[in-house]
Amino acid sequence: MHVPVAIIGCGPSGLLLSHLLHVQGIDSVILERKDRAYVEGRIRAGVLEMGTVGLMERVGVDARMKREGIIHGGIYISVNGKRQHVNIEELTGGATVMIYGQTEVTKDLIQARLDHGGEIVFEAEDVSLHDIETAKPRVRYVKDGNPVELTCDYIAACDGFHGVGRQTMPSSKLKTYEKVYPFGWLGVLAKAKPVADELIYASHDRGFALCSMRSESVVRHYVQVPSSEKIEDWSDDRFWNELRLRLGEADAELVNEGEVFEKSIAPLRSFVAEPLSHGRLFLAGDAGHIVPPTGAKGLNLAASDVHYLSEALIGKFKQNRDDLLETYSDTALARVWKAERFSWWMTSMLHTFDDHHDFDGRIRKAELEYILSSKAGLTTLAENYVGLPY
Ligand code: APR
Ligand code: PHB
Repeated sequence: MHVPVAIIGCGPSGLLLSHLLHVQGIDSVILERKDRAYVEGRIRAGVLEMGTVGLMERVGVDARMKREGIIHGGIYISVNGKRQHVNIEELTGGATVMIYGQTEVTKDLIQARLDHGGEIVFEAEDVSLHDIETAKPRVRYVKDGNPVELTCDYIAACDGFHGVGRQTMPSSKLKTYEKVYPFGWLGVLAKAKPVADELIYASHDRGFALCSMRSESVVRHYVQVPSSEKIEDWSDDRFWNELRLRLGEADAELVNEGEVFEKSIAPLRSFVAEPLSHGRLFLAGDAGHIVPPTGAKGLNLAASDVHYLSEALIGKFKQNRDDLLETYSDTALARVWKAERFSWWMTSMLHTFDDHHDFDGRIRKAELEYILSSKAGLTTLAENYVGLPY
């Protein structure tokens, strides 16, 4: 079987790419290692930039998001219990973000893809990529115990950090950049009312905390924990108490406890692979880069990558243009690095590090105080938070 574009991975990158190609009449197949329930059950962040919302609109998968998503025009930043509002909408001349879980984005994109007759092969095992430097790459996988081979014109590796795409690129052609932080985020999902009308990013001497939400009755809260921390040591009570301590007395009163139905610890990492293409293989989303969750850029970067990649593939299939495919890696990476910078900066400025009482710690504290007291500082935070243009 031959398909113009073979897409590896059924996360937001692969799904959105498949939709963007479909609306231009270009066929693709998505090969996904896991089953549908697993993919639809993964809990991830929940802040969409307007650019991401625009792509969902463009592919016509925006009805539920428009109904259930919540528009936020600002965030709160709390420093040792003192909370300040950052009016992002005003600072950016009208930009906002949409609160809508990535889990919901994924479910909506899968359903719409299947409704339009798109092909998603779940539980595709042992996916391997071949002849990527030739004009006729091949993808092999095993389905229900039977080996299958596809030929294609292009392969899009949208298969996340642990995927096969980046591993297939010759290591001599790939340079990677990485920073691993000495802490993770312990996150809970709970049936409770949000603490405030918008998200609270809390910097505290005990560590960072974030109060987010999925709806008016479901919250997503996080506290910074050392990388060595074990989830078994965190009872629900310990979590709520720690969250209250990091919010300070006044906001602690506003915390609504509720049934915790998900609790996990995620490590924090910054990672970039360069280039994002080799021959006829193109990397998009987490396959090419990872950001720490501070600022919620992961999904939004996946969206901007597939925007550039879809334009490049459409240019090739519709106008036989090669230039956008040739520049895809540079174009996408220019935006990726800016979001890497922002996520690293927010992480550095808001978290507590071991050098907290030393020079570097004092500098971070001064930077946060400066940013929060300066219109220029707040504007730089706001314009990055809502997402740089593409
Ligand atoms: N074969 C087939 N599928 C694979 C393989 C493989 N060898 N390896 C990984 N996959 C699948 C994973 O099971 C997953 O469903 O690729 C998909 C990758 O999806 P994501 O990890 O969601 O990555 P991406 O679509 O780029 O989305 C980026 O997701 O990880 C978050 O924070 C990140 O929000 C960001 C967004
Ligand atoms: C989330 O709601 O999960 C979330 C929100 C904002 C972030 C990170 C995660 O910066």
